[in-house]
Amino acid sequence: MLSKLRLNSKVVILTGAGVSAESGLSTFRENNGLWESHKVEDVATPEAFSCNPDLVHKFYNLRRSQLSQVIPNKAHFFLSKVTHQMPNAWLVTQNVDDLHQRAGSKRLLQMHGSLLEKRCIACNAISDVNVDLSVESQCHSCGCSGVLRPNIVWFGEEPFHLRKIHFLLSQCDFFISIGTSGAVYPAAGFAGLAASNGAHTVELNLVPSDVSSVFAEKYYGAATEVVPEYFTDIVDFE
Ligand code: OAD
Repeated sequence: MLSKLRLNSKVVILTGAGVSAESGLSTFRENNGLWESHKVEDVATPEAFSCNPDLVHKFYNLRRSQLSQVIPNKAHFFLSKVTHQMPNAWLVTQNVDDLHQRAGSKRLLQMHGSLLEKRCIACNAISDVNVDLSVESQCHSCGCSGVLRPNIVWFGEEPFHLRKIHFLLSQCDFFISIGTSGAVYPAAGFAGLAASNGAHTVELNLVPSDVSSVFAEKYYGAATEVVPEYFTDIVDFE
């Protein structure tokens, strides 16, 4: 079933690491992906941070430093145009890079947090990261040392903005998933939720995701190609 997108359609677009792959950032689960060279339980859980904060800081400091070597690609810029020209389009990203922001996207929710933010586990203050984090880093709000963590959602923690995202999923006409494997919940369940609320669901990915059977419409290829092709009739990219 094909369904026609209109400029005023209510749209939720979910993005994953595949959108940033052509900018040069590694995905997680493909060959040479981040979870091939690192164990999730060593670097991406609250327990890992308690046991070995140095290793966790090193992992995220390195990923943050890579951001200065990459730039947004055509898919990020096209999605930014979508958010500018479609007043009811929201971008929900699992990505912790800043490439959607640098492309100028509006109405963006980073459900897994941001590499460019730190959070104090003593006072909960969130602030920008300007230098590498370490166990010695001091919170500027409460003055405590050894309490700063990356403002990233780790396994076992609740993603950010879930209430807002569930509201958007409950009333959207279209749900479009781009560049994500569908391996991690709750994001992997969004398509099913949106479909059960009557939304038309679309998957744009390099290969079928783990949840591809849920989608009504599917296009496979690189994000820099399939994203412009999918939106070409509705959004002006000049
Ligand atoms: P994955 O690495 O699981 O999946 C990336 C997906 O992008 C795969 O399905 C690829 O086929 C696809 N892909 C690769 N290159 C592409 C391209 N050029 N164009 C389009 N698609 C492409 O990454 P995510 O699904 O984002 O969470 O992973 C979800 C979450 O798992 C991440 O946010 C992270 C991770 O563990 C946390 O760390 C909490």
